[in-house]
Amino acid sequence: QRPIVRLLSCPGTVAKDLRRDEQPSGSVETGFEDKIPKRRFSEMQNERREQAQRTVLIHCPEKISENKFLKYLSQFGPINNHFFYESFGLYAVVEFCQKESIGSLQNGTHTPSTAMETAIPFRSRFFNLKLKNQTSERSRVRSSNQLPRSNKQLFELLCYAESLNTLLKEFQLTEENTKLRYLTCSLIEDMAAAYFPDCIVRPFGSSVNTFGKLGCDLDMFLDLDETRNLSAHKISGNFLMEFQVKNVPSERIATQKILSVLGECLDHFGPGCVGVQKILNARCPLVRFSHQASGFQCDLTTNNRIALTSSELLYIYGALDSRVRALVFSVRCWARAHSLTSSIPGAWITNFSLTMMVIFFLQRRSPPILPTLDSLKTLADAEDKCVIEGNNCTFVRDLSRIKPSQNTETLELLLKEFFEYFGNFAFDKNSINIRQGREQNKPDSSPLYIQNPFETSLNISKNVSQSQLQKFVDLARESAWILQQEDTDRPSISSNRPWGLVSLLLPSAPNRKSFTKKKSNKFAIETVKNLLESLKGNRTENFTKTSGK
Ligand code: GTP
Ligand code: MG
Repeated sequence: QRPIVRLLSCPGTVAKDLRRDEQPSGSVETGFEDKIPKRRFSEMQNERREQAQRTVLIHCPEKISENKFLKYLSQFGPINNHFFYESFGLYAVVEFCQKESIGSLQNGTHTPSTAMETAIPFRSRFFNLKLKNQTSERSRVRSSNQLPRSNKQLFELLCYAESLNTLLKEFQLTEENTKLRYLTCSLIEDMAAAYFPDCIVRPFGSSVNTFGKLGCDLDMFLDLDETRNLSAHKISGNFLMEFQVKNVPSERIATQKILSVLGECLDHFGPGCVGVQKILNARCPLVRFSHQASGFQCDLTTNNRIALTSSELLYIYGALDSRVRALVFSVRCWARAHSLTSSIPGAWITNFSLTMMVIFFLQRRSPPILPTLDSLKTLADAEDKCVIEGNNCTFVRDLSRIKPSQNTETLELLLKEFFEYFGNFAFDKNSINIRQGREQNKPDSSPLYIQNPFETSLNISKNVSQSQLQKFVDLARESAWILQQEDTDRPSISSNRPWGLVSLLLPSAPNRKSFTKKKSNKFAIETVKNLLESLKGNRTENFTKTSGK
């Protein structure tokens, strides 16, 4: 059973988000409110990391007086904001104004002991609140009015919505969910800091690239660059301090050793870390675990700067035009609905590859909606220069220096054209290359070749089999056909027949022909309900959703 996490109260944030909602639309042509902050990725990451360091996670009793709770915590220092959510129980995320407050709170708590078990006294920022006075007057914390939509409501929304933005709005990560992701990384960083005091645990992937859907996994990596660079900063004084370090034969072995120890540490001492698996022989070694309180499935790697840079590039593409994220969400949901993508690694297309395909397609429009990576490199200044492990990862980081697109095509048209474009793409001959924004001859015989934008000799979709690619092509053609029919035969709202994205999410057309119209409607509603349920789930059955804006 998936736990459903609901945001129960967040007065401060509600006000903040409403203000954001009131901002004028970012794109007049598409009519979509562009909520993406136009901040640099690094600024956003640093700010959120700093916020997370001032934040604690508290497991609360089921019934609690919000006012008394806040009053109690305020004695340790002023609170900047807080929210409650439900996972396996009720939790509070409390952000203090100052980091020092956390020390006071920790000093005022004790390690519980029971007759049957012994607690390992690990000092963390994850607390358990037990109320002494069980008889005092308590109530459920105030529920936010903005509860997640039921599947039925969502189905109706998708059926009759005039725009493809609905999926994006319903499934994108909320402010609270994002905060919880940064907090989880920060809690893991505390553990890793026991071994590497200057380490940083950074989130990357869909948690930060603005393409994440509620329930997506939490990719994080241990950044030891600060530790590595320390000696570089210290060469100016009279003392030359040289650390004695152990040497191992390769970077890969170093990574495996570090992750092995961290995996053990999370398993034995990590509050709320369960199901720890050390997957050290993978191409990219990792430790996978569930963070129970947040409900996130976490993948911890190390030395993954290029992946962080890929996330930054996607963040920039997502922020450049309001149609990008809506189109990526639609394509991701479409692919998930047709089992083109899966939570299990295998020969299928990944969300990362699909996102690259959408970016490439948008670079190919006339006029282009997105610039090529090479042109982003041309716009870069000295500050943007970046070489990681010999790979040139330079591109402009300042969003205001990139000219907006002149293209005014609607999202609906773009989705149809996306299916047509890839339904007819010469995958047997050509590769997809977002650096140059044009097809190139495939350098090898992989069925699908998408050039890794930074490690340019690699194919990010090397895993995709011919049959999975064929399935993608067949479904793309069918979807293009369905959307074409709708152009000529769009059912009226009163006909109660699914259209648009909903019709694309249903099983393929031949299956539908065998149903009478009445049966088909009932079937469609059931299928879409199940589908929406599955879209909400993440890679494992751990489902986290904080709602409320
Ligand atoms: P979700 O499916 O929502 O988790 O999307 P995601 O973008 O987070 O993908 P995933 O968790 O599979 O991978 C996390 C990040 O690792 C991606 O965003 C990429 O930056 C990077 N990544 C994943 N797969 C590849 C790959 O095959 N090659 C390279 N170079 N990077 C990859
Ligand atoms: Mg991910």
